[in-house]
Amino acid sequence: MEVIISQDPSSASILAARLIAKLVKIKPHAVLGLSTGSTPGDLYKELIRMHQAEGLDFSRVRTFNLDEYIGLPPDHPASYHSFMMKNFFRDVNIPHGNIHIPDGLASDVSSHCEAYEQAIRDAGGIDLQILGIGSDGHIGFNEPGSSLASRTRIKTLTPGTREDNARFFGKPEDVPHHVITMGIGTIMESRTLALLAFGEGKAKAVGGAVEGAISASNPATVLQLHPNAKIYLDEPAASSLERIDYYKWVFQNKPAWQADL
Ligand code: F6R
Repeated sequence: MEVIISQDPSSASILAARLIAKLVKIKPHAVLGLSTGSTPGDLYKELIRMHQAEGLDFSRVRTFNLDEYIGLPPDHPASYHSFMMKNFFRDVNIPHGNIHIPDGLASDVSSHCEAYEQAIRDAGGIDLQILGIGSDGHIGFNEPGSSLASRTRIKTLTPGTREDNARFFGKPEDVPHHVITMGIGTIMESRTLALLAFGEGKAKAVGGAVEGAISASNPATVLQLHPNAKIYLDEPAASSLERIDYYKWVFQNKPAWQADL
Protein backbone atom coordinates (compact mmCIF):
# COMPACT_ATOMS: atom_id res chain seq x y z
CA MET A 1 0.00 0.00 0.00
CA GLU A 2 1.38 3.37 -0.96
CA VAL A 3 0.00 6.32 1.01
CA ILE A 4 0.38 9.64 -0.81
CA ILE A 5 -0.51 12.72 1.23
CA SER A 6 -1.06 16.04 -0.53
CA GLN A 7 -1.93 19.47 0.83
CA ASP A 8 -5.36 19.62 -0.74
CA PRO A 9 -7.81 17.55 -2.83
CA SER A 10 -6.81 19.32 -6.01
CA SER A 11 -3.08 18.43 -5.75
CA ALA A 12 -3.95 14.85 -4.76
CA SER A 13 -6.33 14.54 -7.72
CA ILE A 14 -3.67 15.81 -10.13
CA LEU A 15 -1.32 13.03 -8.96
CA ALA A 16 -4.04 10.41 -9.45
CA ALA A 17 -4.89 11.86 -12.89
CA ARG A 18 -1.21 11.57 -13.90
CA LEU A 19 -1.27 7.89 -12.95
CA ILE A 20 -4.29 7.35 -15.21
CA ALA A 21 -2.79 9.42 -18.04
CA LYS A 22 0.42 7.41 -17.87
CA LEU A 23 -1.52 4.16 -18.11
CA VAL A 24 -3.66 5.38 -21.03
CA LYS A 25 -0.55 6.51 -22.93
CA ILE A 26 1.21 3.17 -22.43
CA LYS A 27 -1.96 1.14 -23.00
CA PRO A 28 -4.46 3.09 -25.16
CA HIS A 29 -7.07 0.33 -24.80
CA ALA A 30 -6.79 0.36 -20.98
CA VAL A 31 -9.80 -0.69 -18.91
CA LEU A 32 -10.62 1.87 -16.22
CA GLY A 33 -12.85 1.28 -13.21
CA LEU A 34 -14.61 4.51 -12.27
CA SER A 35 -16.37 5.86 -9.21
CA THR A 36 -18.77 8.70 -8.49
CA GLY A 37 -19.64 10.92 -5.51
CA SER A 38 -17.95 14.13 -4.39
CA THR A 39 -14.43 12.73 -4.19
CA PRO A 40 -13.43 12.21 -7.85
CA GLY A 41 -14.69 15.62 -9.08
CA ASP A 42 -11.24 17.24 -9.34
CA LEU A 43 -9.77 14.05 -10.82
CA TYR A 44 -12.28 14.08 -13.68
CA LYS A 45 -11.69 17.83 -14.19
CA GLU A 46 -7.95 17.23 -14.54
CA LEU A 47 -8.45 14.33 -16.98
CA ILE A 48 -10.77 16.54 -19.06
CA ARG A 49 -8.12 19.29 -19.01
CA MET A 50 -5.47 16.78 -20.12
CA HIS A 51 -7.76 15.63 -22.95
CA GLN A 52 -8.63 19.13 -24.13
CA ALA A 53 -5.30 20.90 -23.58
CA GLU A 54 -2.80 18.08 -24.07
CA GLY A 55 -4.63 15.70 -26.39
CA LEU A 56 -4.86 12.79 -23.94
CA ASP A 57 -6.73 10.27 -26.07
CA PHE A 58 -9.47 8.12 -24.55
CA SER A 59 -10.81 6.80 -27.87
CA ARG A 60 -9.87 3.18 -27.15
CA VAL A 61 -10.38 3.23 -23.37
CA ARG A 62 -13.09 0.99 -21.89
CA THR A 63 -14.76 1.89 -18.58
CA PHE A 64 -16.71 0.08 -15.88
CA ASN A 65 -18.41 2.04 -13.11
CA LEU A 66 -18.56 0.63 -9.62
CA ASP A 67 -22.22 1.06 -8.85
CA GLU A 68 -25.69 2.44 -9.52
CA TYR A 69 -28.89 2.98 -7.54
CA ILE A 70 -31.65 0.46 -8.19
CA GLY A 71 -34.86 2.07 -9.40
CA LEU A 72 -33.34 5.22 -10.90
CA PRO A 73 -33.59 5.65 -14.67
CA PRO A 74 -30.31 6.65 -16.35
CA ASP A 75 -31.53 10.23 -16.89
CA HIS A 76 -32.51 10.75 -13.22
CA PRO A 77 -30.40 13.71 -11.98
CA ALA A 78 -29.05 11.67 -9.02
CA SER A 79 -28.27 8.50 -11.00
CA TYR A 80 -24.62 7.59 -11.45
CA HIS A 81 -25.27 7.49 -15.22
CA SER A 82 -26.16 11.20 -15.05
CA PHE A 83 -23.21 11.93 -12.78
CA MET A 84 -20.74 10.33 -15.17
CA MET A 85 -22.18 12.01 -18.28
CA LYS A 86 -22.17 15.43 -16.59
CA ASN A 87 -18.80 15.20 -14.86
CA PHE A 88 -16.67 13.22 -17.32
CA PHE A 89 -18.01 11.39 -20.36
CA ARG A 90 -19.54 14.35 -22.20
CA ASP A 91 -16.15 16.13 -22.19
CA VAL A 92 -13.82 13.32 -23.27
CA ASN A 93 -13.75 11.03 -26.32
CA ILE A 94 -14.66 7.65 -24.84
CA PRO A 95 -16.98 5.96 -27.38
CA HIS A 96 -20.44 5.40 -25.90
CA GLY A 97 -20.18 1.64 -26.54
CA ASN A 98 -17.04 1.42 -24.40
CA ILE A 99 -18.85 2.74 -21.30
CA HIS A 100 -20.37 0.30 -18.79
CA ILE A 101 -22.47 1.34 -15.79
CA PRO A 102 -24.75 -1.07 -13.91
CA ASP A 103 -28.38 -0.69 -15.02
CA GLY A 104 -30.51 0.46 -12.10
CA LEU A 105 -33.64 -0.58 -13.99
CA ALA A 106 -32.52 -4.15 -14.84
CA SER A 107 -35.56 -6.41 -14.61
CA ASP A 108 -33.43 -9.42 -13.62
CA VAL A 109 -30.81 -8.00 -11.28
CA SER A 110 -28.93 -11.29 -10.73
CA SER A 111 -28.51 -11.97 -14.47
CA HIS A 112 -27.52 -8.36 -15.05
CA CYS A 113 -24.83 -8.63 -12.36
CA GLU A 114 -23.50 -11.88 -13.85
CA ALA A 115 -23.39 -10.24 -17.30
CA TYR A 116 -21.53 -7.25 -15.82
CA GLU A 117 -18.89 -9.58 -14.35
CA GLN A 118 -18.63 -11.36 -17.71
CA ALA A 119 -18.20 -8.04 -19.55
CA ILE A 120 -15.30 -7.15 -17.22
CA ARG A 121 -13.69 -10.53 -17.94
CA ASP A 122 -14.28 -10.14 -21.69
CA ALA A 123 -12.52 -6.77 -21.58
CA GLY A 124 -9.48 -8.49 -20.07
CA GLY A 125 -10.07 -7.29 -16.50
CA ILE A 126 -9.78 -3.81 -15.01
CA ASP A 127 -6.33 -2.22 -15.24
CA LEU A 128 -6.92 0.60 -12.78
CA GLN A 129 -9.86 1.05 -10.44
CA ILE A 130 -10.63 4.46 -8.92
CA LEU A 131 -12.21 4.22 -5.48
CA GLY A 132 -13.65 6.57 -2.90
CA ILE A 133 -14.40 5.50 0.66
CA GLY A 134 -17.58 5.90 2.69
CA SER A 135 -17.41 7.29 6.21
CA ASP A 136 -18.21 3.71 7.31
CA GLY A 137 -15.35 2.28 5.24
CA HIS A 138 -17.42 1.08 2.28
CA ILE A 139 -15.82 0.78 -1.15
CA GLY A 140 -18.17 0.71 -4.11
CA PHE A 141 -21.37 0.21 -2.16
CA ASN A 142 -19.99 -2.74 -0.22
CA GLU A 143 -21.25 -1.80 3.20
CA PRO A 144 -19.71 -3.10 6.45
CA GLY A 145 -20.34 -6.83 6.72
CA SER A 146 -20.00 -7.40 2.97
CA SER A 147 -18.12 -10.55 2.08
CA LEU A 148 -14.52 -9.72 1.22
CA ALA A 149 -14.91 -12.21 -1.66
CA SER A 150 -18.19 -10.75 -2.98
CA ARG A 151 -18.99 -10.25 -6.67
CA THR A 152 -21.25 -7.73 -8.44
CA ARG A 153 -24.68 -7.96 -6.81
CA ILE A 154 -27.51 -6.13 -5.08
CA LYS A 155 -26.71 -4.46 -1.73
CA THR A 156 -28.80 -2.59 0.80
CA LEU A 157 -27.46 0.79 1.89
CA THR A 158 -27.03 1.49 5.60
CA PRO A 159 -29.00 4.40 7.10
CA GLY A 160 -25.67 6.26 7.47
CA THR A 161 -24.81 5.99 3.77
CA ARG A 162 -28.34 7.04 2.76
CA GLU A 163 -27.91 10.08 5.03
CA ASP A 164 -24.43 10.85 3.58
CA ASN A 165 -25.85 10.71 0.03
CA ALA A 166 -29.08 12.61 0.73
CA ARG A 167 -27.36 15.79 -0.52
CA PHE A 168 -27.72 14.51 -4.09
CA PHE A 169 -31.49 14.04 -3.77
CA GLY A 170 -34.41 16.44 -3.29
CA LYS A 171 -35.59 14.73 -0.10
CA PRO A 172 -33.60 12.33 2.15
CA GLU A 173 -36.37 9.73 1.83
CA ASP A 174 -35.81 9.71 -1.96
CA VAL A 175 -32.41 8.01 -1.57
CA PRO A 176 -32.93 4.42 -2.77
CA HIS A 177 -32.34 1.61 -0.29
CA HIS A 178 -30.92 -0.77 -2.89
CA VAL A 179 -27.98 -0.54 -5.27
CA ILE A 180 -26.00 -2.70 -7.67
CA THR A 181 -22.32 -2.69 -6.82
CA MET A 182 -19.19 -4.45 -7.99
CA GLY A 183 -18.19 -6.83 -5.22
CA ILE A 184 -15.09 -6.57 -3.09
CA GLY A 185 -13.68 -9.66 -4.84
CA THR A 186 -14.36 -7.97 -8.20
CA ILE A 187 -12.61 -4.77 -7.10
CA MET A 188 -9.63 -6.69 -5.72
CA GLU A 189 -8.99 -8.29 -9.15
CA SER A 190 -8.15 -4.88 -10.67
CA ARG A 191 -4.44 -4.67 -11.44
CA THR A 192 -4.08 -1.32 -9.68
CA LEU A 193 -6.32 0.34 -7.11
CA ALA A 194 -6.30 4.11 -6.54
CA LEU A 195 -8.37 5.17 -3.54
CA LEU A 196 -8.95 8.88 -2.99
CA ALA A 197 -10.22 10.36 0.28
CA PHE A 198 -10.53 13.98 1.29
CA GLY A 199 -11.63 15.84 4.39
CA GLU A 200 -11.71 15.17 8.10
CA GLY A 201 -14.95 13.22 7.76
CA LYS A 202 -12.97 10.42 6.12
CA ALA A 203 -10.06 10.39 8.62
CA LYS A 204 -11.46 7.62 10.82
CA ALA A 205 -12.34 5.34 7.89
CA VAL A 206 -8.94 5.97 6.28
CA GLY A 207 -7.10 5.30 9.56
CA GLY A 208 -8.88 1.95 9.84
CA ALA A 209 -8.38 1.09 6.18
CA VAL A 210 -4.65 1.75 6.17
CA GLU A 211 -3.61 0.80 9.69
CA GLY A 212 -6.49 -1.23 11.16
CA ALA A 213 -7.01 -4.98 11.27
CA ILE A 214 -8.47 -6.48 8.10
CA SER A 215 -12.17 -6.97 8.65
CA ALA A 216 -15.44 -7.07 6.73
CA SER A 217 -16.60 -4.51 9.30
CA ASN A 218 -14.38 -1.97 7.53
CA PRO A 219 -14.42 -3.18 3.90
CA ALA A 220 -11.64 -0.82 2.76
CA THR A 221 -9.16 -2.68 5.00
CA VAL A 222 -9.10 -5.37 2.29
CA LEU A 223 -6.89 -3.04 0.24
CA GLN A 224 -4.05 -4.11 2.55
CA LEU A 225 -4.12 -7.43 0.70
CA HIS A 226 -3.77 -5.82 -2.74
CA PRO A 227 -0.27 -5.86 -4.26
CA ASN A 228 -0.67 -2.46 -5.94
CA ALA A 229 -2.94 -0.12 -3.98
CA LYS A 230 -2.33 3.63 -3.88
CA ILE A 231 -4.11 5.83 -1.37
CA TYR A 232 -4.34 9.54 -2.28
CA LEU A 233 -5.22 11.73 0.70
CA ASP A 234 -5.36 15.37 1.66
CA GLU A 235 -3.98 16.38 5.07
CA PRO A 236 -7.34 16.25 6.95
CA ALA A 237 -8.15 12.75 5.62
CA ALA A 238 -4.66 11.61 6.68
CA SER A 239 -4.89 13.18 10.13
CA SER A 240 -5.60 10.00 12.09
CA LEU A 241 -2.75 7.95 10.56
CA GLU A 242 -0.12 6.95 13.12
CA ARG A 243 2.65 6.60 10.55
CA ILE A 244 1.86 9.84 8.71
CA ASP A 245 5.46 11.17 8.86
CA TYR A 246 6.80 7.89 7.51
CA TYR A 247 4.40 7.90 4.52
CA LYS A 248 5.40 11.47 3.69
CA TRP A 249 9.10 10.64 3.89
CA VAL A 250 8.71 7.59 1.69
CA PHE A 251 6.88 9.57 -1.00
CA GLN A 252 9.34 12.48 -0.95
CA ASN A 253 12.34 10.15 -1.18
CA LYS A 254 11.21 7.68 -3.82
CA PRO A 255 14.11 6.61 -6.03
CA ALA A 256 13.73 8.19 -9.48
CA TRP A 257 13.35 4.79 -11.17
CA GLN A 258 10.38 4.01 -8.90
CA ALA A 259 8.48 7.26 -9.40
CA ASP A 260 5.39 6.75 -11.52
CA LEU A 261 4.05 10.27 -11.29
C1 F6R B 1 -19.34 5.81 -5.61
C2 F6R B 1 -18.88 4.81 -4.63
C3 F6R B 1 -18.80 5.12 -3.19
C4 F6R B 1 -18.20 6.49 -2.88
C5 F6R B 1 -18.22 6.76 -1.39
C6 F6R B 1 -17.67 8.13 -1.06
O1 F6R B 1 -19.32 5.30 -6.92
O2 F6R B 1 -18.60 3.73 -5.03
O3 F6R B 1 -18.02 4.14 -2.55
O4 F6R B 1 -16.90 6.54 -3.37
O5 F6R B 1 -19.52 6.66 -0.91
O6 F6R B 1 -18.54 9.09 -1.56
P1 F6R B 1 -18.13 10.61 -1.61
O7 F6R B 1 -17.02 10.72 -2.60
O8 F6R B 1 -19.35 11.33 -2.11
O9 F6R B 1 -17.72 11.00 -0.24
